Amino acid sequence: MTTPHIPIRKLEVDLSQGFARHWHGGDAFRTQYYNALSMSFPVGEQSFIDAVREGVKLLPDTPEHAALRHTVAQFIGQEATHRHVHGLYNAQLEKQGLVNRWQHWANWRIAYGQKKGINVRHLLAITAAYEHCTAVFADGTLRYSSWFEAADPAMRTLWRWHSAEETEHRAVAFEVYQAVGGNHAWRIRWYLYVLVLFAFDALRQTVLNLWHDGTLFKPSTWWNAATFFLGRNGTLWRYTGPLLTYFKRDFHPDQEHALPSAQDLAQGWLVANAGSYRVVR
Ligand SMILES: [Fe+2]
Ligand SMILES: [Fe+2]
Repeated sequence: MTTPHIPIRKLEVDLSQGFARHWHGGDAFRTQYYNALSMSFPVGEQSFIDAVREGVKLLPDTPEHAALRHTVAQFIGQEATHRHVHGLYNAQLEKQGLVNRWQHWANWRIAYGQKKGINVRHLLAITAAYEHCTAVFADGTLRYSSWFEAADPAMRTLWRWHSAEETEHRAVAFEVYQAVGGNHAWRIRWYLYVLVLFAFDALRQTVLNLWHDGTLFKPSTWWNAATFFLGRNGTLWRYTGPLLTYFKRDFHPDQEHALPSAQDLAQGWLVANAGSYRVVR
């Protein structure tokens, strides 16, 4: 397995004063789509933390697993920081009148899984699946400069920082899943579940946000949505291929498919924006 160094960083972005209602270049759809994603993070990332934490407990306490344990601790540090920052972000969204339903859908499902005594290997498969989706989205955020060109600079920094760190730790949940003997068939089954669920949750929370924003029925919103999915560097074109790589039997998250590589993009952003964060450990 690989043993990357994945530092924990404190983002130097002040969200306490809030941000513009349409911070994404005045584009209501794009703004409310990313706001929806942010709403899912505190609950979602906590569930990823819990899954990998429980997962490594299944491994014998031997030196061969020491590197993975260390990487898991770093993963937890990064995801905990993301939870915190997106918690501050979401508090501002609440002040703007938006309503976070996604967190309740996720909490309900997590509670249901616990009630049914879901096996930790399944939780790891779900986490690895979400982490692949996140890594694909993160790669796009860093690769296609136009995606955040018009965004508020602080918000652009926040999303690119999160993207860089998602790229750094993209293999951790997958490697814990492999280490505890998770198999291919269940990895694929849970990935299909996650793809459908994620698309459905992201859609309904975005629509809800647009409704509360008063922009759901504006033609410009629908035009912006069409451009987001189908325009030049539209997400449909850019996400589909990388999302499909997860079905390969020999898939590993650190396989690169484009130049510059996702890791190079992440490290490039971190070097160029070193003033935007402080390394904590
Ligand atoms: Fe994260
Ligand atoms: Fe992550």
